[in-house]
Amino acid sequence: MTSLGRTEFAVWSPGRVNLIGEHTDYNDGFVLPIAIDRGLRIAVRSRLDRRVILTSDRGGSPVAIDLDITLAPGRGDWGRYAEGVLAGFQRLGWQIPGFEAAITADLPAGGGLSSSAALEVGIATAVEALAGRSLPDGDKPLLCQRAEHEFAGVPCGIMDQCAVALGRAGHAMLLDCRTRRLRHVPLAADTVRLLVIDSGVKHALVDGEYAARRRQCESAAALLGRPTLRDVTEEDWLRDRDRLPALERRRAGHVIAENARVLAFAAAVERGEWPEAGRLMGESHASLRDDYEVSCRELDAICAIAAEADGVFGCRMTGGGFGGCAIALVEASSADAVVDRLKERMSAAGVHSAGMFLTRPAAGAHVQG
Ligand code: GLA
Repeated sequence: MTSLGRTEFAVWSPGRVNLIGEHTDYNDGFVLPIAIDRGLRIAVRSRLDRRVILTSDRGGSPVAIDLDITLAPGRGDWGRYAEGVLAGFQRLGWQIPGFEAAITADLPAGGGLSSSAALEVGIATAVEALAGRSLPDGDKPLLCQRAEHEFAGVPCGIMDQCAVALGRAGHAMLLDCRTRRLRHVPLAADTVRLLVIDSGVKHALVDGEYAARRRQCESAAALLGRPTLRDVTEEDWLRDRDRLPALERRRAGHVIAENARVLAFAAAVERGEWPEAGRLMGESHASLRDDYEVSCRELDAICAIAAEADGVFGCRMTGGGFGGCAIALVEASSADAVVDRLKERMSAAGVHSAGMFLTRPAAGAHVQG
C-alpha cells in the first residue's frame, strides 16, 4: 500500500546576493540584498502518514523526520535546517501533514549565496502550501532565522531569510533590520548586470568567527553606552570612538560607515549613478578586509582584478565572508565581454575562480504555477 498522498506541487526558493550592507543586519542596521535567479527547486508530494522524507541531488543520505514527536535541536546532518523550520510550525500549533520533498539545486552549497536560507524558506513555503494557509507577513523569515539559530547553531541576522522570502524581480531590497521595513529599489537591468564570482573557498560560519564578530559589536555598543551600533550617530562616533579598544574601534567603525554606505548606494542606484555605486562597493570591500577582517586572500585577489577591469563599476565580497563569492556591478551592454576579460585576467594572474555567472534580481520563494 502506498503511503503517498495526492497533493503535488513544486516550490522555487532562490539564493541571495547582498549588494551592500555586510555584517550590519545583526547590528539593527541596513542591508541591500537581492534574491537571485538561481536556487533550489523542491518537488513536494503529500504523504498519508506523519513522516517527512527529504532527498537532495547533492547526495547525502535521505532525511527522515517524524512529525509525531516534538522536534528539538541535535541533528548533525543537512536535515537540521528543515527540522528547525518544522519545529517552528509545531510551536505555532499547525497541523502539518507528512510529505516528501526532492530537492534539486543550482546554487553552490556553502558558497555564500544562502543555500541554507533557501532551504529553510523553501520548506516553510512548502508547509504553507500543504496546510493551505500562510504565516502573517514577515513571520516566515523570523521562523526560519530561529531555525538557523537553534538547529544549525549559527547566530545569523535576518537578511538572508528576508531576501529569500521577500525578493522581487527587477528590484533590490533596502531593508531596515531594526523595523524590518522594506523598500524595493528598481535595478535597471538594461543598464547594469550583476556578476557573481565564486572564490571556491568554502566558508563555515559555524566555526566561531561570525559569532565572535557579533560579540565584538555588542561589546563596542555597550562601551559606547548604546543598545546597538545602529544607535551610534556620526557625531557620537567622532566624539567617543577613542574610548574603544583598537579591535572594537575597527569593528564598530566598519558597521557605522557601512550603514551610511547602504543608504548612499540605494540613492546612487535610484539616480542611476553607477560609478558612485561601484565606488561604494569598493569602500565596503576594503572595510570588510581591513577593519572587519572577514575577507580572505582569494576574494581580495578577485575583487582587485575585477574592480580594475573596463566595464566593471565596482566589486566586493558578499555574504558572511571567509570565502564564498564576490559580486561585481557591470555595464549591461558589455557584460559578456566583461566575463571573458575577467576570466583572462584572472588566469593570467594565477587567480582561481570556481565559476562566475551573471544574475539578476528575482522573485522570492513561491509555489511554481
Ligand atoms: C551571513 C548571515 C547574515 C549576515 C551576513 C553578513 O550571511 O547569515 O545574517 O549577517 O552573513 O552580512
